[in-house]
Amino acid sequence: MWKVVWAALLLLSTVCVQRGYTKEAKGAQSLGHVSVVIVGGTGDLAKKYLWQGFFHLYANQVSSGYSFSFYGGGLSPNDKATPILFEVLKGVVCPRELSVERCALVKEQFLRLAEYRQLNTSEDYQALGKHLTEQLRQEGIVEAGRLFYLSVPAFAYADIAEKINNNCRPTDGAWLRVVLEKPFGHDFSSAQLLSTQLGASLKDNEMYRIDHYLGKQVVSKILPFRRENSKHLDLIWNKHHIERVEIVLKETLDAKGRISFYEQYGVIRDVIQNHLTEVMTLLTMELPSNLSNTKEVLKNKLKIFSALQRLDSNCAAIGQYQAYNAEVQEELSKTREHFSLTPTFAGIMVHIDLAQYEGMPVILTSGKMLDERVGYARILFKNDIFCIQSHSSVHCKPKQIVFSFGHGTLQYPAILVSKNLFKPDLMDTEWKEVTEHKDVSVLGLPISDYYVLTPTVEREAYAELILHIFQGRKDSFISAENLLASWSFWTPLLQSLADTFPRLYPGGADNGNMLDFKLLGRKVNFANEALVMVTQDHIGGSGRESFQVMQGKYRSADMVSAWPEELIVRLAADLQVAAENAVREGGRFHLALSGGSSPLALFQRLARHHYSFPWRDTHVWMVDEQCVPLTELDSNFRTLHDHLLQHVKMSYFNIHPMPVQMNQRLCVEEDSGALLYESDITQLVNASSFHFVLLGVGDDGHTASLFPGSKLDASGNSLVAFTESPAKPHQRMSLTLKAINQAQKVGVLVMGKSKHELVTQLSRVKDNPKHWPITGIRPTSGRLVWYIDYDALLG
Ligand code: BG6
Repeated sequence: MWKVVWAALLLLSTVCVQRGYTKEAKGAQSLGHVSVVIVGGTGDLAKKYLWQGFFHLYANQVSSGYSFSFYGGGLSPNDKATPILFEVLKGVVCPRELSVERCALVKEQFLRLAEYRQLNTSEDYQALGKHLTEQLRQEGIVEAGRLFYLSVPAFAYADIAEKINNNCRPTDGAWLRVVLEKPFGHDFSSAQLLSTQLGASLKDNEMYRIDHYLGKQVVSKILPFRRENSKHLDLIWNKHHIERVEIVLKETLDAKGRISFYEQYGVIRDVIQNHLTEVMTLLTMELPSNLSNTKEVLKNKLKIFSALQRLDSNCAAIGQYQAYNAEVQEELSKTREHFSLTPTFAGIMVHIDLAQYEGMPVILTSGKMLDERVGYARILFKNDIFCIQSHSSVHCKPKQIVFSFGHGTLQYPAILVSKNLFKPDLMDTEWKEVTEHKDVSVLGLPISDYYVLTPTVEREAYAELILHIFQGRKDSFISAENLLASWSFWTPLLQSLADTFPRLYPGGADNGNMLDFKLLGRKVNFANEALVMVTQDHIGGSGRESFQVMQGKYRSADMVSAWPEELIVRLAADLQVAAENAVREGGRFHLALSGGSSPLALFQRLARHHYSFPWRDTHVWMVDEQCVPLTELDSNFRTLHDHLLQHVKMSYFNIHPMPVQMNQRLCVEEDSGALLYESDITQLVNASSFHFVLLGVGDDGHTASLFPGSKLDASGNSLVAFTESPAKPHQRMSLTLKAINQAQKVGVLVMGKSKHELVTQLSRVKDNPKHWPITGIRPTSGRLVWYIDYDALLG
């Protein structure tokens, strides 16, 4: 007789006898059989969590009427792996609510129901499929479903999914669930590729992508907590009341033993793109009207993803623990010269472009080899009470809600609400209020200053999720859309950090304040960076500090030269002086700005340091534009908007993007976009003479969108023209030489070593605008100033 039935019936009869449930036993036979296959069944994750989780499932469901069989699959032959599997299975422990006798019985049955199978070739899967079907047929049991848990490296997913699809699909009417562990790709395109590959073998509703954080009790209660306490939270869950949101996972462990994985991923891909991002969306998404409506939850999550501001390397501070590189050299057999740039620590600031959260920083941070193990999300509220005397009173202290996932000083999962906020309601009977505390502090407040809620029984995340898989509850898993939205958010940051050197840190308590970081507007910096810079400069001797801003002549015009940072400081200051003079004299400052990457540092400097700049009286014009919608990342206006305009207070009426898109088409001559822009300039700018035009210069000598070989005089007296670029997108709109040369001041910004050759060449050539359009810049009555950094000037 098949051991599954035997065991299930034996157990059920015991259960029935013990509890006197005859009804349950009848129901039991009708619910069917579930086969569980853990591929990678003797691997680390399976040993640590999965078998334990499936054992809890078994203990929990055995009297519900299902029968089970369990298979640990692996590449090793049966005789080698079977003893290993049984060692692991013997170690599983019972849920607390089970009596000792019952535990022994359930465990014995569980062991009888499990076996090892070699799962390597297609034939192995074919044999497994046949075995499962044959057993069901022989015993005449109805099949409920087949659950495959792929606890193997992600590169093997597509191949195994195909083998399952070809050989192991269940009998008609039964379900197939295939569980996948992260990583699901390492960036947007690899995640998309994996999704397509898996999609060829499995339907979306058959895939369960695990993020074990969604199984943590506190994380899974974020939405219910927000719902249950909405009468308090609705008023304060916004930028007006929240100072910042912190989502933190600190670990004391290193990456030793899993370097081959970690080296490809690093901390952002390992835990931030998934675990911490999921927590962020749960905290910030609009509350769905029905919390268990998977579609609505996903829709609201996606809204957050699409409102996240694009990240670049300025938004992150990254570090690497000192011993990591040697571990890489050893585990990956690299030479002593090998340097890894993989971050093991990251502090990242995210902003959400929604009226509710505008300007409110969300900080995501995680690292290996830190001083303690703890995971939490903290909502820190603004405290508008100004305390005169009783500073120790709770009203003078931080107002905060802490979702503590586990570990840390508290050592148990909990939701804490500081008493100066409100008394929270319990979400359900599985949670209780803690009233007796150990004498500990949590994030700056003694525990007695909090209301503390905790689960009545602590459950392991994997055990929770395994139960949800069995129940077919898709809401605890990551959908393909969710996954791709997350990768599309994180990929630009990962790309922009690819060549960044992480700060080295010693690890543990010795890190001291090395990893503290500060938020400067939209920028994240290590807090003690300035000190490090000074030290380097001093050690470096006659380095940067010996060069001051230098003035001279270049191509018979004025030139200002300095190291990049000082040059930007100087150019921004010159712009402010020009703006103040113009406003004093005529009440208006007309500024025309270019695209490209050189002016970005200038835009950021203006946004972050020039608070007295007369923005209200400034009109911003475009020097040139690419023929793409203004919302596209390629658009010069979009760059200007993202780096400057959205950060300064100026009237929308004074912002003048080029009308490249008219009548739902781009840069069509007969739509007269160029003429329209010209007529705006003529009407608004005194004598069509801008106060300041900022230009750059390309390697080929182009400036604005005036390229070598274009008929620069074909536009005659026009101020604005359509032009052609050799690079994509080819079509452009540009101010003409005439418009630029009418300006009162023209600044040409040239930065970076890559421009050195150009600077040298230009210093030698005569004016020849057809070949070198930049040489056509000769303001008629205004002044031309070259701003060239030392890298470009000296190479
Ligand atoms: C895993 C990461 O997903 O999460 C590990 O791969 C990390 O590097 C772990 O240690 C943290 O999870 P927890 O549950 O220990 O906080």
